[in-house]
Amino acid sequence: MPVDTMLAAEQIQKRVHEMAQAIDRELAGETPVLVAILKGSVHFFSDLARAMETDAELDFMQVSSYHGGKSSTGVVQIRKDLDINVEGRHVVIVEDIVDTGTTLAYLLELLETRHPKSVRVAALLSKTEARVTAVKVDYLGFDIANEFVVGYGLDYDERFRNLPYVGILRDE
Ligand code: IMP
Repeated sequence: MPVDTMLAAEQIQKRVHEMAQAIDRELAGETPVLVAILKGSVHFFSDLARAMETDAELDFMQVSSYHGGKSSTGVVQIRKDLDINVEGRHVVIVEDIVDTGTTLAYLLELLETRHPKSVRVAALLSKTEARVTAVKVDYLGFDIANEFVVGYGLDYDERFRNLPYVGILRDE
């Protein structure tokens, strides 16, 4: 299945470095907990964390959204929870893409119950047009059109995650 490039690898790397600098500016002197939302954020998380100068602890969560047909039902299940206790900590959630906003809204609500000092969101991509639930994104890589994209962690049926760029899957 061919993939048309939307965001080239170099373009992504440049933006990720800018995002890392923005996080450094805000959290200088702190030791935040960076939370990767698996699996889609794997490359973004790794590149972002290594581009930051601020020392950070790294942790991982995996959630799954149940989809009733083509639309999300709004039900989110935790498949892997954090190991680190985030009470009193600065937390940065690292997401691949914010689509309807359902997953992120759920995660923000859940993390707030654990009394962190602050929660910020870094998302590589956002489909603002597709938003159903309003969510704040503090550090955004790219706002993209409402199209299905793959690569740089994003999958279609678990495929294409290892591409170094983001592209649109052509039906052929
Ligand atoms: P939301 O809950 O609708 O915001 O969905 C967020 C999740 O859906 C993301 O973390 C992705 O795993 C997945 N997703 C949304 N749009 C795309 C896409 O275009 N390609 C691949 N996965 C996507």
